[in-house]
Amino acid sequence: MGNGIAQVAARAGYSVVMRDVKDEFLQRGLQAIDRSLQRDVDKERLSTEEKQSIIERIKSTTELEALSEASFVVEAVTENLSVKTEIFSALDRITPPDAILASNTSSISITRLGAATERPDKVIGMHFMNPVPVMKLVEVIRGLATSNETYERVRSLSEKLGKTALDCNDSPGFVSNRVLLPMINEAIFTLHEGVATRESIDGIMKLGMNHPMGPLQLADFIGLDVCLAILNVLYDGLGDSKYRACPLLKRYVDAGWLGKKTGRGFYEY
Ligand code: CAA
Repeated sequence: MGNGIAQVAARAGYSVVMRDVKDEFLQRGLQAIDRSLQRDVDKERLSTEEKQSIIERIKSTTELEALSEASFVVEAVTENLSVKTEIFSALDRITPPDAILASNTSSISITRLGAATERPDKVIGMHFMNPVPVMKLVEVIRGLATSNETYERVRSLSEKLGKTALDCNDSPGFVSNRVLLPMINEAIFTLHEGVATRESIDGIMKLGMNHPMGPLQLADFIGLDVCLAILNVLYDGLGDSKYRACPLLKRYVDAGWLGKKTGRGFYEY
């Protein structure tokens, strides 16, 4: 999602530093940005020159120290608490003291991420939805120590990015994934129990509920490993068995069938 966030920020006129651990990941991200902007060039909503200047506002790097002058950071690393806390404590050392450190986490506690820094008042959740250039929502999550000033800055930035910020408190899965993931998990259970085929399950939800894509296709699109990680956060954090992940989802993740990104999930790509 990092490349989508970099794209919307650069398109809104900001200078962006896009950091990843490997150059090949950065190249892949830059290609995704190029493809996404090209859609708008093809539809004559963006000129080739504008596209070029958006791309030029994005500097890519593998060095975390390149963020030393950042006034606003949006972290979008893997959905793992220890990886995220490590990044937050490093960002706390590297970035200017007044910089806001936002996380694009889809379920991890913002209060915990804040506690990994000396500036928990400036740590906040800024949860974008995929595909970032298209989806209008930013779910804004306030940790226990997040200040009103930080919250207002995030609201105003979201608007400048062309998004609508809707807020919620720090609770496992926030609102988006507390509602979405049990639906996806239940769809996987219906497949697991042989209630219907994948096409039927997705078709029923698309045609019957007017969802833009079925829950199994959406799970592939989110990443089955990410779905499992979010369900585990709900299960552990809320202590209710209704959030237990379907065994079929666990089996697919064990097999490395993680959805669209690996070429196979509930569908083949
Ligand atoms: N970049 C830029 N534009 C894109 C794009 C991209 N990556 N992907 C699609 N688009 C644009 C297209 O250009 C098109 O624009 P116009 O209608 O203005 O011409 C529009 O989006 C629709 O695209 P398509 O016609 O190609 O395909 P579609 O109608 O099937 O829509 C979709 C694609 C928008 C992805 C739609 O299927 C959809 O809304 N799916 C559900 C998405 C969703 O639920 N996202 C949330 C996932 S959960 C999450 O992200 C967070 C989490 O924590 C798990």
